[in-house]
Order: sequence, then C-alpha cells, then structure tokens
Amino acid sequence: MRAASFAVLATTAATLASATPTCAAPPTATVVVETAHGGAFNDRTNVTISVPVGPVYANGEALAAVSTLYLLGPDTVTCSPFKAQDGTVNGGLPFTVGHPSLLSTNSVVVGSLICTPLTLA
Ligand SMILES: *[C@@H]1O[C@H](CO)[C@@H](O)[C@H](O)[C@H]1NC(C)=O
Repeated sequence: MRAASFAVLATTAATLASATPTCAAPPTATVVVETAHGGAFNDRTNVTISVPVGPVYANGEALAAVSTLYLLGPDTVTCSPFKAQDGTVNGGLPFTVGHPSLLSTNSVVVGSLICTPLTLA
C-alpha cells in the first residue's frame, strides 16, 4: 500500500518535472490566516490561501478577520499586511517562514497582502 502510493507520487512528480523543464509556474506563497473568534483563547480557525509573489493580493473573504499571519513557504519570500486593498497603509509587521506576524489578539481586517522575494537573484 505504501509502496504503491509512493510509486504514484514519484510518477506524478516525474511527469510534472518533465512537463515544465525550464519555465516554472508563477511563484506563490502559502499563507495561513488565523482568526480568533471572540475572547476564548482556543477559539481559533485557520484558513490557508495561496498568494502570488509580486502583485498586491486582496481577498476580502479570507482577510476579513485576521489575528495572526503565518507564511508556510517558500522561505525565499517575505509578506506584509496592509490595511487598504491597494497595498497601502501599513497593517502590521512583515512575516516570513517561522516568523508569524501577530496583528491582534482579537481579529482585524486586512485589506491586502504583498509578498516579495527576499533576494533579487
Ligand atoms: C494555524 O496554523 C499555524 C501555522 O501552521 C499554527 O501554528 C497554529 O497553531 C494553527 N492554529 C490553529 C487554530 O489550527
């Protein structure tokens, strides 16, 4: 069972690799939006979103209530929250992999996120 699953995964990976030999897909950052509901400390939910690296990203639904922002990957980007939907008005500290940004112990509205590469390679 495990061997069969691994074989399928390996085949899929090989197929994907051969299908995209030189041109990688547009980079996206995987961001977890943690929402705190009311006062109970353990009353929290997580939503994972994919944020394109580069442009301003607005998502009124996912970002309507944000307590903490986590970046799961890649570790080559940094993301910043903004209060306005057009990527203006600083909304909190930037966050990177392993360094989440706590915006509020309750939840606040985030207008947009901008994720940028850490290094211009
Ligand atoms: C949400 O995800 C972050 C990062 O993976 C994790 O540290 C946190 O415990 C999660 N919170 C909940 C409520 O699952």
